[in-house]
Amino acid sequence: MTAVPHDPGPQGGRGTPAVPAAMAGAPASPASPSPASPSPVTPSPVTPSPVTPAPVTGALAGRTVLVTGAGRGLGRAMALGVAGAGATVVAVARTAGELAETAALADPGRVHVLPWDLAAPDTADDLVAGAQRLAGPLHGVVHAAGIQHRAPAADFPADAWQRILTVNLSAPFFLSTAVHRAQAARGESGSHVFIGSLASSIGLRDVAAYAASKAGVLGVVRALAVEWAASGARVNCVAPGYIRTALTEDLFADAERAAWVAGRIPMGRLGEPADLAGAVVFLLAEASAYITGQLINVDGGWLAG
Ligand SMILES: NC(=O)c1ccc[n+]([C@@H]2O[C@H](COP(=O)([O-])OP(=O)(O)OC[C@H]3O[C@@H](n4cnc5c(N)ncnc54)[C@H](OP(=O)(O)O)[C@@H]3O)[C@@H](O)[C@H]2O)c1
Repeated sequence: MTAVPHDPGPQGGRGTPAVPAAMAGAPASPASPSPASPSPVTPSPVTPSPVTPAPVTGALAGRTVLVTGAGRGLGRAMALGVAGAGATVVAVARTAGELAETAALADPGRVHVLPWDLAAPDTADDLVAGAQRLAGPLHGVVHAAGIQHRAPAADFPADAWQRILTVNLSAPFFLSTAVHRAQAARGESGSHVFIGSLASSIGLRDVAAYAASKAGVLGVVRALAVEWAASGARVNCVAPGYIRTALTEDLFADAERAAWVAGRIPMGRLGEPADLAGAVVFLLAEASAYITGQLINVDGGWLAG
């Protein structure tokens, strides 16, 4: 399929430039430049602020957490935030070279890499087994892997619909169930952090499959939270606003759409990948022990307005 991985934009997808396959759901060559690297982008009306949130330290000491989508973008920042908080991380994505770059940014030995294609949700038990062989029993999971395809609803390709629903919704659901089963077999439970979107809460045009997947993620979070609460497992959702990554690169290259985004952020700045780490670490840590089934929007106030 021709997935076009940027987060929902409001101004329509017609005329959106093609995105290289490496950014469109296919693995990039390890030798190719990382999509997480800064790339030439048309200046937009919103300039990311240099603010970098202080890392949370120590909150996850002794924990082991699987983070999907950890090769670049938000998943990489989440993996590094979780590792910085003291956890051992198993970083999952398809592109081994990008995972290695993530690991190299963490303290030595803190991040293990496990290349895996999440488009095959029926391999979730094998993924958990592999992660636990690498790093020991898992305490938590963060589902940051995601893809996008932009097209008017009336023309939406069936294969793109299916692939987005598989990677963005089915994969995290079945992976969490596999983590939960492995924990239950040890008499334990853990924290599950799903990644939503503004599209979990509001309608945005030309992203029907992505919207279905991200609204579905919120439904899964609430269902699992209720079903698993008695076991001690907690299930929550972090929903980023617009953040400049490979997923949104073309959106921010479009001055009109970038201006639309800029005009809707009460805090007056774009989010940065590191902005997500605090909420993710909090939801994995004991500090959130009585919180489950919740959605935390990390959007600079977008949805408050
Ligand atoms: N950026 C935003 O503004 C924004 C806003 C709201 C929500 N989000 C959500 O945040 C999450 C991360 O997005 P991002 O912006 O960081 O995107 P990104 O930079 O494109 O990163 C996506 C990650 O997911 C991995 N991935 C994609 N398909 C995969 C598959 N089949 N199997 C395994 N890994 C796969 C990618 O690695 P490989 O390609 O190597 O597999 C990559 O590591 C997504 O769920 C996205 O929907 C992003």
